Amino acid sequence: MTRREVECSAPVNIALIKYWGKRDENLILPLNSSLSITLDQEELCTTNYVYTDTAISQDSLTINGLPHSLDTPRYLSCLQTLRQLSGRHERVWIESTNNFPTAAGLASSAAGFACLVYSLAQLFQLDCELSAIARRGSGSACRSMYGGFVEWKRGVLSNGEDSIAYQVFSEDYWPELQVLILVVSDQKKSVSSSHGMQRSVKTSPLINTRAESIVPERIQLIKTAISERNFESLAKLTMMDSNQFHAICMDTLPPLFYLNEVSHKIINMVHRYNEQCSEVRLGYTFDAGPNACLLVQKQHVKQVLAIIHYLFPTSNEDKFVIGKSNSVSPTDLPAF
Ligand code: DP6
Repeated sequence: MTRREVECSAPVNIALIKYWGKRDENLILPLNSSLSITLDQEELCTTNYVYTDTAISQDSLTINGLPHSLDTPRYLSCLQTLRQLSGRHERVWIESTNNFPTAAGLASSAAGFACLVYSLAQLFQLDCELSAIARRGSGSACRSMYGGFVEWKRGVLSNGEDSIAYQVFSEDYWPELQVLILVVSDQKKSVSSSHGMQRSVKTSPLINTRAESIVPERIQLIKTAISERNFESLAKLTMMDSNQFHAICMDTLPPLFYLNEVSHKIINMVHRYNEQCSEVRLGYTFDAGPNACLLVQKQHVKQVLAIIHYLFPTSNEDKFVIGKSNSVSPTDLPAF
């Protein structure tokens, strides 16, 4: 057999309306639909170099140069499905690299599984709906299969065939909209998203109310906000949903503390800044960790960065981490 090789990249996505809780652990079926924005390919992404030839006797994976086991239900399920659908059974070599500091604690599983599924589908020349396969690797990975604004539909079927992602608006629909990522901590989170959401499903009385009575309407409202390029509405819905997700984390027993003191300071900074501007210019969202993703329009980026540098000065060694040297209270915004 001749050697075949493929190189692909997949970007990180940031959920504006969060996925939290599964109704089927094995198929990775969510309790609720979710909606995200996919970051630019050049910014935070995973790149895979994959190849196959006769010399390879077993599947192998390296992540950032280090060997990684493929022998887990999530990897096996992606590989098996891709092989079944393509009828290709040759062994594969996968070299996966993240272009952002791994120690920065940024969610990489979404980009990682999206990239794995897409690159192997290319290698196996498989042309079909791939987001449901990426979903089996990590739920949020299905949203990284598309650029722009992406909805992952909850679906109603028990086999998960209709629990797929699709692009709601393309990457060039709202070019003024920017996402700033503030790395608050480079520590690995103590409870993974998968374990955290399992615990919430078991113990949080609020999680089902959110999934059934709040998220469906919120998804409609945020789609309208995006279609109208209404920044205020987008930012408010995103902040409310992030806060509600963390309220569910607190409603979990034992509670899940993903935010830290610096995250709280960032939240205060955003509200204080908006108040001083007498309009909503900045929004935030936090996943299962203390790092902040800020939403802002291009014309305000410079001003916002100046405020962040003032409130959260970083030393040279820690240029990715703002959480170690903050000394100024967010109530003392600089003049702007
Ligand atoms: C808070 O997709 O990492 O980032 O499906 O168990 O792999 P698994 O979980 P994962 O959870 C992401 C949770 C979140 C919200 C979101 O991205 O929607």
